[in-house]
Amino acid sequence: MQVVSDPRVYQQACASAREKGGGVALVPTMGALHDGHMALVAAARARADFVCVSIFVNPSQFGPHEDLARYPRAMEADGARCEAAGVALVFSPTREDMYPEGGETRLVVGETAAALCGASRPGHFDGVATIVSKLLVLTGSCVAVFGRKDYQQWRVINRLVADLFLPVQLVGVPTVREADGLALSSRNRYLSSEARSRALSLSRALSQAVRRFDDGERRAGILRQEAEAMVAREMDELDYVALCDTDTVQPILDDAIVPSRVLLAVAARIGGTRLIDNVVLGEDGAPSQQEQDSAMASEQ
Ligand code: PAF
Repeated sequence: MQVVSDPRVYQQACASAREKGGGVALVPTMGALHDGHMALVAAARARADFVCVSIFVNPSQFGPHEDLARYPRAMEADGARCEAAGVALVFSPTREDMYPEGGETRLVVGETAAALCGASRPGHFDGVATIVSKLLVLTGSCVAVFGRKDYQQWRVINRLVADLFLPVQLVGVPTVREADGLALSSRNRYLSSEARSRALSLSRALSQAVRRFDDGERRAGILRQEAEAMVAREMDELDYVALCDTDTVQPILDDAIVPSRVLLAVAARIGGTRLIDNVVLGEDGAPSQQEQDSAMASEQ
């Protein structure tokens, strides 16, 4: 496995791999890799021979009071996981490599980024779009794999690739969860065991909404407020619980009847850690289903 930090060397390595045939795939990450990232790598390996993982904690997507300084870094363990998973190349540039002195070009994204995390983290998606476009331009024609846990990011990147005519085939991988429903996240390692068990309110609220939706509930206000009440009971601070259009990420008002497919997204803080999660009602199963299944199995 090659480990490369120079963007031009990375660009050349991708170009040479592409010439050989078999395709190039990129999994962009900020490191501290967990099983959710490894599911992205597996999806990339199924689609291309030359799989690259980028590891870069991108400063331009963090706000001034966010966790850039303490964001987990685990380069050695990440390298070992990538190698074991058959990754061909890890691209781990420095801040100066990706934002050289004198550089001034930044992307500004639009309406897809206006609600949810875009509203509570001003400039976040401009930073994501800027780094992702740099990574995709360096990689060239490729498959690029992202997790749908960051659902709004997934939609913003779809828009970006279409708007900039990038030669990229996007793949969105469903959220990977612990057996009890907690969505995997690099930030989970900040959680105490008490905070972790309270954080389960996110996936439980989403599961309840899936069941209510599958039983025929279509009133947006009811679905949203029930989920909000469950999350608010356990978490320290609620950021949002919102129903949105699955493509545009525009919020659906409480007095509306939801369509046959709708995004339910949540964000909340516990013990200083901000967590996000989501389901697409009408498409995804209940996130806590595994927990219920194992509880039922142990009762039998
Ligand atoms: O999802 C992430 O880890 C990051 O936002 C990404 C896409 C790697 C950009 O820094």
